[in-house]
Amino acid sequence: MEILGIDIGFGFTKATGGGQDLVFKSVLGESTDIQFREEMLAAPDHDDEHLQVEVDGKSYFVGELAERQSNVRFFTLDQEQFIGKFAKVLALSAAARMVKGFVPINLVTGLPIGSYRKHKDELAKLLVGEHKVTLVDADGRRDEKSVSINKVRVIPQPFGSLFNLMLNDLGEMGDKRLVREKIGLIDVGFRTSDYTISDKMRYSERGSRTTDSGIARAFNVISTKLRENSGVNVELYRLYEAIDRGSIKIRGKVYDLKSLTDQVFGQLATTVANEVDRLWVDDWDIDAMVITGGGGAVLAKYLQPLLNGEVMALSPGEDMRMYNVRGYRKFGQHLWARGAAPATPAES
Ligand SMILES: Nc1ncnc2c1ncn2[C@@H]1O[C@H](COP(=O)(O)OP(=O)(O)OP(=O)(O)O)[C@@H](O)[C@H]1O
Ligand SMILES: [Mg+2]
Repeated sequence: MEILGIDIGFGFTKATGGGQDLVFKSVLGESTDIQFREEMLAAPDHDDEHLQVEVDGKSYFVGELAERQSNVRFFTLDQEQFIGKFAKVLALSAAARMVKGFVPINLVTGLPIGSYRKHKDELAKLLVGEHKVTLVDADGRRDEKSVSINKVRVIPQPFGSLFNLMLNDLGEMGDKRLVREKIGLIDVGFRTSDYTISDKMRYSERGSRTTDSGIARAFNVISTKLRENSGVNVELYRLYEAIDRGSIKIRGKVYDLKSLTDQVFGQLATTVANEVDRLWVDDWDIDAMVITGGGGAVLAKYLQPLLNGEVMALSPGEDMRMYNVRGYRKFGQHLWARGAAPATPAES
């Protein structure tokens, strides 16, 4: 049995298990017949791989491949659509890539706080069971897989980060401090910001909420400005690298993004800090706050000075998009394999 964590985010799908990680954009596209599949010149540092799957008789390009090659691309920031049309394909793509052969899977995944109650049974039902998934590689070779998902556990997304801090890789309690204290979690994602409180490991309903203050809101402002200036509609999921770099080239012209980015990230951080103040007004006894999620990483330098209280420092250099999913996997270990020896290569 393989224990996997899969975090199906609006921006990125993240998966981890058995010593490997996987991240791809949560974008699906119609698969097309690519007639020239060879790379023009061997480019050694290509990290975007060919991810093409067939699920329920439909063929998709997934992630960066869809972004580059599909004429028709599907991407959504709507929760109902996301569960109905995307979650299963994204999760099964990840699972099929992660596990070899016919190894059954126990899966931990998550939902935003705001849609947890409404969608958790539906999501578990979509995923549990035996799925025929075909992976098609860059040369057109087909690998038919039977992905068999034994158990699914759905948790509120930011709890992934808490479990990641609290548990070791075997799912055992590591940091006791977190168990005794009152911790406020701020998970800034692509579309949503999720807030929750763990009070001596108890979930606080009062302190938990999902809002729309994700990074996409800042990206939207930047995209609108770019459309006004260049006439080109830059899709939100194509903006991250440019914003990180500080400029974007559109039809040969370079647009500087630095000052605009500072401004909109500053605004977004203010919104998040205000939401924190309002939501946790009665929770002035919080011991420490944790800023997590990929959006948390980019917003942290703007957000940290605005928060009233101790902010826990997390390991710098880590890809914060993976923070929740690492916790999902550790929680899976805790539930299903505690104390068991980690899987050796011979078992898989
Ligand atoms: N290496 C990176 N590549 C791309 N984006 C990154 C990277 N590091 C941080 N980010 C930021 O992470 C954000 C996405 O974070 P994350 O993966 O946590 O969101 P998500 O879980 O997909 O969204 P949501 O929680 O709203 O469903 C991006 O909008 C980007 O600003
Ligand atoms: Mg997220």
